[in-house]
Amino acid sequence: MRVAFVGKGGSGKTTLSSLFARYAAQCGTVVAIDADINQHLGLALGATGTPRPLGGMIGEIKDYLRGDNPRIRDAASMVKTTPPGRGSRLIRPDDPFFPSERVEGISLMVTGPFGEDDLGVACYHSKVGAVELYLNHLVDGQGEYVVVDMTAGADSFASGLFTRFDVTFLVAEPTRQGVSVYRQYRDHAADFGVAVSVVGNKVQDPRDVDFLREHVGDDLLTWFGHSPAVRAMEQGQAFTLDALEADNHDALAVLLKRVDAQPKDWERFGAQAAEFHLRNARAWADRATGEDLSTQIDPEFVYGPASIKVSPRRHMEACPSPA
Ligand SMILES: Nc1ncnc2c1ncn2[C@@H]1O[C@H](COP(=O)(O)OP(=O)(O)O)[C@@H](O)[C@H]1O
Ligand SMILES: [Mg+2]
Repeated sequence: MRVAFVGKGGSGKTTLSSLFARYAAQCGTVVAIDADINQHLGLALGATGTPRPLGGMIGEIKDYLRGDNPRIRDAASMVKTTPPGRGSRLIRPDDPFFPSERVEGISLMVTGPFGEDDLGVACYHSKVGAVELYLNHLVDGQGEYVVVDMTAGADSFASGLFTRFDVTFLVAEPTRQGVSVYRQYRDHAADFGVAVSVVGNKVQDPRDVDFLREHVGDDLLTWFGHSPAVRAMEQGQAFTLDALEADNHDALAVLLKRVDAQPKDWERFGAQAAEFHLRNARAWADRATGEDLSTQIDPEFVYGPASIKVSPRRHMEACPSPA
């Protein structure tokens, strides 16, 4: 299951991504990907090292993923939206080709810090492109969690990255700015059948909850309060989930339950992969590569577990359920 945390800078994406990843790691396989502008996920997970950034190995990733798909001439003609086809290499979440750092039972991957050039809407080499390629070739199932700490930026809308997830958690503080990012995201996502669940953060009192309810309605899934345990961690203390306050712990259970309840929709994934590739090709990629990239779409290709063996994983016994 692919889970995105999006929202305004400072809203708590990284904090909640890291807490959710730790929590889900009690129940299954977790890959956490830092795709935020400011790369702080490793720190929030207590990682001591940094894996090799995916953003610096886009060419290698393309070569690996295109496999011997005859529709893709070479790595240079593969763009971030090039969908898998027959001959492509489909991957499982923990594919060892992708460098990761093991921390708290989680495999951490990072895009690397963004430069000015990475934020352009049509950027050919954008670092989040590495995440899009990974997700486009990923076949994942229940009990597997790929958690991506993202920005809510235009880059993910332009390329279709925002459609590559099963569940999108929009982290919002109970402020006008917090909910205005929600509105933009929702309006865009609604056109593509992308469900957005709002997760309130830094909620101080019932008035904050009322504020969120008033502005996001039923999209409000749950909320987190200010966490002294998170603050203590930021001040250098060791952190485990046991230290987390009961209400915040319960909110994590709600998030996991939400993800587990989401059915996989491989048909949507496949159709939108093709749709966004065509848009991307027309908008800039045909010009950039000097090719007609629409020919990369393989109409015979079936996306999902039909094309790679996935044995469903059961939740571990120890996996907590919401109170
Ligand atoms: N629920 C919380 N309790 C305590 N501190 C929090 C909470 N959520 C976020 N913070 C703090 O707020 C700051 C911004 O959070 P962060 O997760 O880095 O935001 P983002 O990734 O959205 O930019 C960090 O210092 C973080 O520790
Ligand atoms: Mg962050």
